[in-house]
Amino acid sequence: MGVVLAAAGSAVGLGNVWRFPTEVGYNGGAAFILIYLFNVILIGMPVMISEFVVGRHTHANTITAYAKLALRSWWRFEGVAGVFVAFLILSYYVVISGWTLFYLVDSLSGFLPVEQDFQSEFNSFVSHPWLPVAYACGFMAMTHWVVSCGVQSGIERFSKVLMPLLLIIIAVLVGCSFSLPGAHDGLRFLLKPDFTKVTTRVVLSAMGQAFFSLSIAMGCLCTYASYFKDETRLARTAFNVSIIDTMVAILSGFIIFPAVFSVPGVEVDAGPGLVFITLPNVFHMTFSSYPVMGYIFSVLFYMLLLLAALTSAISLHESVTAYVLEATGMSRRTAAAIVSVSCMLLGVACSLSFGPWSDFKVFGMSIFDLFDFTASKVIMPLSGIVICLFVGWKLDRNMVRDEITNHGTLRFRLFSTYIFLIRYVVPAVIALVFVNELLG
Ligand code: PFF
Repeated sequence: MGVVLAAAGSAVGLGNVWRFPTEVGYNGGAAFILIYLFNVILIGMPVMISEFVVGRHTHANTITAYAKLALRSWWRFEGVAGVFVAFLILSYYVVISGWTLFYLVDSLSGFLPVEQDFQSEFNSFVSHPWLPVAYACGFMAMTHWVVSCGVQSGIERFSKVLMPLLLIIIAVLVGCSFSLPGAHDGLRFLLKPDFTKVTTRVVLSAMGQAFFSLSIAMGCLCTYASYFKDETRLARTAFNVSIIDTMVAILSGFIIFPAVFSVPGVEVDAGPGLVFITLPNVFHMTFSSYPVMGYIFSVLFYMLLLLAALTSAISLHESVTAYVLEATGMSRRTAAAIVSVSCMLLGVACSLSFGPWSDFKVFGMSIFDLFDFTASKVIMPLSGIVICLFVGWKLDRNMVRDEITNHGTLRFRLFSTYIFLIRYVVPAVIALVFVNELLG
């Protein structure tokens, strides 16, 4: 249970509550969600199992894990890509997590339920020259502290309490959101697919979102799997993590979109600010006659969102720190400090790209968008292909079977299907979508 929840802690984070609704908004609603589900089942779960196999078999950080299994061949660069992308994601993940911290502080001070103009409040915060940077540093300090103390039992214990609590709060918020005037339109947007809006970009976005949300192809789950025990059931863990993660994402959609359609002036494709603008509005509108309840809910929500972000950020940080630590032999504290400081330098650039540096564009994208695009739409799909080919073709089939069946003590009836998927289907689907998008 602890293992599932720790891996679920890595998976469930801002990707579910912040990024998923943002992507759904950009990509036209229900059709995107269907494609997303398809991606989770067909691509996400097989890749996750494959990462678990590599991690648990080697009991080493991601780079060493691939180096051990691939010896001097090119495959070992997969480990390098995993750690690099975890580093890249952490650098912008702390920025959004910093926003969450700000909103928690704001709601604690009783500000959110009374203020009306959430949109301009949000815009002036994210474009402030130093305030979001300060909050991102605050969040990084929290992550750094947990990682440098050593995480295994900490994360596990933390996740066991936190994840069920998060689900309860989400369920209550869904109830609140359904009572809003725009609930009907919001639900239609989420449940009625319009396939005319589907392009390869939408499919690639759904794939990128599935990778991001499930924390796959970034070394994190491989690192966590290296801490798994021999009895941990890899396939079942992958299944449970995917179910929890998908449930939280879809429920978040049920919170956000009824709210979006209830608030005049907010568009579904408002982008990264969507959650930070609409949620305070939900609290404000739902509880306008019971301000105390509005206060309690906004505090609880941002606190849980922050903690969910923290468990994910810890897994990203741990993935990089575990490598630095094992490769250099330096102390955990020093390794974690090096990762925190260097990552924060990139984080500052990401944060400033919403404000003073917003005019600075690379390939037409802001620094933040560029990092997100590179990580989730370029490196992650490519990494996904390599992981599948590696486990499907390079590793010994019996070793993979032994790992998944815990040396024959479990039955895994879908083993041949799994092998077929990772050998042919998953790499082909990812490559097709990816190439199509590049050529288009
Ligand atoms: N899956 C996390 C989320 O949905 O917020 C983010 C994340 C964590 C991505 C760990 C990648 C990762 F390796």
